[in-house]
Amino acid sequence: MTGNVIVLGGDGFCGWPTALHLSQLGYDVTIVDNLSRRKIDIELGCKSLTPIATVEQRLNAWKEVTGKQIDFVNLNIAEDYHQLRDLIIDVEPQTIVHFAEQRAAPYSMKSPTHKRYTVDNNINGTHNVLCAIVESGVDVHLVHLGTMGVYGYGTAGMAVPEGYLHIFVDVEGTTKEVDIPYPSNPGSIYHMTKTLDALLFYYYNKNDELRVTDLHQGIVWGTNTDETLLHPHLVNRFDYEGDYGTVLNRFLVQAAVGHPLTVYGTGGQTRAFINIRDTVRCIALAVTNPPKKGERVKIFNQTTETHRVRDLAELVSSLTGADVRYYVNPRKEDLENELVVKNDGFLELGLQPITLSEGLLEEVVDVATKYRDRCDASKILTDSRWREDIPLDHIGSEIPAMLEEDFIAAD
Ligand SMILES: NC(=O)c1ccc[n+]([C@@H]2O[C@H](COP(=O)([O-])OP(=O)(O)OC[C@H]3O[C@@H](n4cnc5c(N)ncnc54)[C@H](O)[C@@H]3O)[C@@H](O)[C@H]2O)c1
Repeated sequence: MTGNVIVLGGDGFCGWPTALHLSQLGYDVTIVDNLSRRKIDIELGCKSLTPIATVEQRLNAWKEVTGKQIDFVNLNIAEDYHQLRDLIIDVEPQTIVHFAEQRAAPYSMKSPTHKRYTVDNNINGTHNVLCAIVESGVDVHLVHLGTMGVYGYGTAGMAVPEGYLHIFVDVEGTTKEVDIPYPSNPGSIYHMTKTLDALLFYYYNKNDELRVTDLHQGIVWGTNTDETLLHPHLVNRFDYEGDYGTVLNRFLVQAAVGHPLTVYGTGGQTRAFINIRDTVRCIALAVTNPPKKGERVKIFNQTTETHRVRDLAELVSSLTGADVRYYVNPRKEDLENELVVKNDGFLELGLQPITLSEGLLEEVVDVATKYRDRCDASKILTDSRWREDIPLDHIGSEIPAMLEEDFIAAD
């Protein structure tokens, strides 16, 4: 495969292995990243469980093992508009893959400062990308990483479709059929920015015929891909602390360091999941299957399976012997929900999903065990919460935590 691809946020957890995978497939890759995620590690006083190399070391190692060059540009897409536009003019990418957002829901709820940062960074960043593509005059296909969380985590009572809802409307006695964007229902400031992103895509697609693919990704677990295993400096980041750690990865590290598995509420939340190896494959499929000019925003549910959180905790516990502990849920969300998701788009393009197998879980436990001395146990539980009247619970209990209405003051 040939052509130029810019990967925005290419130093991050999903962006780095994707940049390597696209380079391995033959694309000429340029990473754009302002390294804000590394700075947030400093702010939070913690670090990736895996010892990630500097960007320069990463790119040198990639060149050493594959002979392939990946370029790196340090710029802030939310602020450095003109550099971004000029880069697009210089590189003439056929595709821009956009990962460059603040992506942790708990971090986005930490304080008014964090809420405002997340909105400023994500909305300005996405809008700058769209505006710069149009101003550059380059015919770019934009592939954006959205989240399953845009649909909300209530029980929909139906399989959640891929972005559009086919509805029947009664117009003066005649039934009309129409597709509308699936109603958005964000559960945090972070998720809200993703629903606003979707509106920006809708507008630029309608007005400027921009070709956009929006990937509503599930919660990513795992850490290695074929490419990140090629050299120690290519190792991917692995977040385990309470803000950025994704739930299954958190459980696997907790098991490795002898901390009880931290289930929020009753653990009745059902969520959509995807392994990092499938993330990179899905993005390569999206890059090779762009929408046509004039086609509406293409939306894929980039997820391979759904699980209830307490079932995941039980699975990890049975695999590792870890205890399970229930904590007051810092989030304002349904304590129990059903989730059925359509993901036909990627299956039709040939994705053969990696589902949760003990083998892969053990691979992650091995990584977690190898680096467990780097884990700061005091960072496992977060201080972030959705409202000030939700108690901070760092003690937990052996039985499912009390119901939401018991501790949240009435609105
Ligand atoms: N990790 C998951 O489980 C998950 C699930 C669903 C969706 N997503 C989406 O995938 C994308 C990537 O997630 P991730 O887990 O790799 O996050 P990450 O924080 O590890 O990576 C994001 C990268 O973008 C960079 N960045 C942020 N703002 C920037 C800016 N203004 N200018 C330039 N660079 C900037 C950061 O420095 C970081 O390297 C996000 O948009 C996220 O919403 C992730």
